[in-house]
Amino acid sequence: MNPTFDLTVEFANQLDEKDVLSDFRKQFYFAGDTNNIYLDGNSLGRLPLKTKTLIADVVEKQWGTDLIESWNKNWYTKSVELGNKIAQIIEASNGEVIVSDSTSVNLYKLAKAALKFQKGKFQIVSDVFNFPTDLYILQGIIQECGNNYELILARQKDEISIDLDDLKSKITEKTALVVLSLVAFKSAFFYNSGEITKWAHEKGALILWDLSHAVGVVPIELNITNADLAVGCTYKYLNGGPGSPAFLYVRKDLQEKLSTPIQGWFGEENPFEFKLNYCPAPGIKKFLSGTPPVISQMAIEPGLDITIEAGIENIHSKSILQTEYFIYLTIEILSKYGFKIGSPLDYKQRGSHVSLQHSEAYRICQSLIQPKKSNFKVIPDFREPDNIRFGFTPLYTTFTEIWQTVERIKTIVETYEFEQFSNERKLVT
Ligand SMILES: Cc1ncc(COP(=O)(O)O)c(C=O)c1O
Repeated sequence: MNPTFDLTVEFANQLDEKDVLSDFRKQFYFAGDTNNIYLDGNSLGRLPLKTKTLIADVVEKQWGTDLIESWNKNWYTKSVELGNKIAQIIEASNGEVIVSDSTSVNLYKLAKAALKFQKGKFQIVSDVFNFPTDLYILQGIIQECGNNYELILARQKDEISIDLDDLKSKITEKTALVVLSLVAFKSAFFYNSGEITKWAHEKGALILWDLSHAVGVVPIELNITNADLAVGCTYKYLNGGPGSPAFLYVRKDLQEKLSTPIQGWFGEENPFEFKLNYCPAPGIKKFLSGTPPVISQMAIEPGLDITIEAGIENIHSKSILQTEYFIYLTIEILSKYGFKIGSPLDYKQRGSHVSLQHSEAYRICQSLIQPKKSNFKVIPDFREPDNIRFGFTPLYTTFTEIWQTVERIKTIVETYEFEQFSNERKLVT
């Protein structure tokens, strides 16, 4: 993709006029505040309007009035139904995805199941860009298994990309499991999942993809690439709400071969028989553990419906155009102020956020969020040591907002507005 951009705001307006997804913005809540540019949908997606009314109904009618009867009406089957909707978004099949727990817990369940299945292999391969929770979970599993396993991390080629030759050389016949984030949380480096899955399979390894920064914004071809296992968040580009339960995917033919390490009653074949001895439910349901957080779980569905209606192909095309446009404006306008692009320039290797690196990244980020000299705020986020992450959510981010953001950053550095802020980090950055 190599569109011809220009620097004027009129050009940004024209891109918005031509945008086939522009009407989807109206399906989100905007708190009457048009001077608020939200570029953190890769961390916490916006609130869909339908979720607002749905949650009022879940609280007042389903919980308040119908009480326990709501389990039979629509709560009990929701994990499976939501899983089947997510399957449409990640190119998996019905019965291969389920919603439960957090991404961390799901990763634990699937990694442990995979290691138990891969007898006689004691290496786990990941990379240095993986989200820390994934590495922490793997380290914990290794301790739990008497330190019999070894975690091997592929190194980075530079600050932005993983060294693919190094990764491939580390996946060998000794590898039990490969665990990678499809899109890296900091640089947005985007793996070619087909190539890596094929490589892992040739060496007899299973692969577990963390889709958190990818789901809802880039194409994910789990069935086409024959991926074994996957997990992911629903509160980012899927707009499921803060702390909404995560999902997990297990390829059909693996489901009866793997067992869950958390044998809770929700994964039992018939929980309401209350037998004393556990017998796993058939298929994907055995990977459920206990009672889900119903209100948070019910909040997921409207975001999934919007994504399915908009279509991943349309969403991804707009994401590419938006990230390309932001990179163009950064190179043309911001590079002379010390900004460096901390994300791949090739859109085929990039998710939907772009990191900008700067020695004053934290204070510039604070100036964007708490403007002292402007009537509009921009909300990106900060990742150590020097990255401001700008997340572009095609369902509601406009091109004009991207143009305004770059202009605002330029003003902050030109006027040294960031000097009014402390470098002391807040609890959540
Ligand atoms: C790539 C990735 N994996 C896992 C997680 C953690 O998910 P959870 O808090 O649901 O366990 C995150 C959170 O941002 C993430 O970005």
